[in-house]
Amino acid sequence: MNLEYLSGFGNEFASEALPGALPVGQNSPQKAPYGLYTELFSGTAFTMVRSEARRTWLYRIQPSANHPAFVKLERQLAGGPLGAVTPNRLRWNPLDRPDEPTDFIDGLVGMVANSGAESPSGISIYNYCANRSMERVFFNADGELLIVPEQGRLRIATELGVLDVEPLDIVVLPRGLKFRVELLDAQARGYVAENHGAPLRLPDLGPIGSNGLANPRDFLTPVAHYEDLKKPTTLVQKFLGELWACELDHSPLNVVAWHGNNVPYKYDLRRFNTLGTVSFDHPDPSIFTVLTSPTSVHGLANLDFVIFPPRWMVAENTFRPPWFHRNLMNEYMGLIQGAYDAKAEGFLPGGASLHSCMSAHGPDGETCTKAINVELAPHKIDNTMAFMFETSQVLRPTQFALECPQLQNTYDACWASLPATFNPNRR
Ligand SMILES: [Fe+2]
Repeated sequence: MNLEYLSGFGNEFASEALPGALPVGQNSPQKAPYGLYTELFSGTAFTMVRSEARRTWLYRIQPSANHPAFVKLERQLAGGPLGAVTPNRLRWNPLDRPDEPTDFIDGLVGMVANSGAESPSGISIYNYCANRSMERVFFNADGELLIVPEQGRLRIATELGVLDVEPLDIVVLPRGLKFRVELLDAQARGYVAENHGAPLRLPDLGPIGSNGLANPRDFLTPVAHYEDLKKPTTLVQKFLGELWACELDHSPLNVVAWHGNNVPYKYDLRRFNTLGTVSFDHPDPSIFTVLTSPTSVHGLANLDFVIFPPRWMVAENTFRPPWFHRNLMNEYMGLIQGAYDAKAEGFLPGGASLHSCMSAHGPDGETCTKAINVELAPHKIDNTMAFMFETSQVLRPTQFALECPQLQNTYDACWASLPATFNPNRR
């Protein structure tokens, strides 16, 4: 399958899999071309200001309304309900590979969350581990999905077209978009942020100017692709955290043409134009923000997706690992490849850590000792890609996250070996 993509972020795209399938000059003609049905897919309230509005017009073989009642599934998402509140710093090893056949939905494991979908803000975070393609089709009524693959390539067939992604790519699927995740390798593992708040967008650049960080043209949206299949298909939805399903007699991935800006997209993290200091000290890690979901408080993010990519370290007279800090924001970190420069060991690809509001953290003892004593010269941190889902509301771990064998019970000890360097007699 030779996939095509449209380039840009937030664009009013148009795509048709059959010539002339898109109506010209109006959205909802009495008879759409090829006998297609017209359907509006809204990702924001109708009355949102124009710059915020997300919607796409779909021209499809059957409208989505043609489905029987949904029935609650016996097998619900893994991870369980939220567990006890803890201010402690937590870190997890990667999830075990499943023994049973496990598709993307069954492979999602709830780790932390700060909201259900009842309110239009907050996020939920999952790790996933799957070993077979979905045969069913899924949509998430609870939020937009940001998928960060760590192992295994995915083919994501959506209503608007097909996206292939691999580790170091990310993909964003709008709330409610129907899709099927197929595995292109034997195993797939990674992370998912479910955004209940305002849709992700590029951050403003301020004094950086009109270029830099993630550039709009590197975001890729699929072209229209439809399945005209009369075969029984299970359609699953997540609604207020619960999985419900119904049986269709056709594929719901049956959109022949579409136009709009409420679209799925992928982005190759290697395209990120990484900026940093060329004199001394560190900019705040917000300089590494790829995408952001704002709140109604200017500058306060519901979700920032931040990466720590390969980069040159040239700061003079500077403690070069990220500084020790305590943050208003809540930080869930993961690692896609290599090692993270603030941790000597224990933070593994596929693993995760949680540093909640005002919990103190920073480089571990070994990293810190090395950083204080190293002869400073320009050097490149290579073969690495850590990331952070950062959010303004406190994240609560799920029961699974608090009880699983992957939870490291010695995480605090990594700071116990910080060297005692204070000497009041030596400035
Ligand atoms: Fe931090």
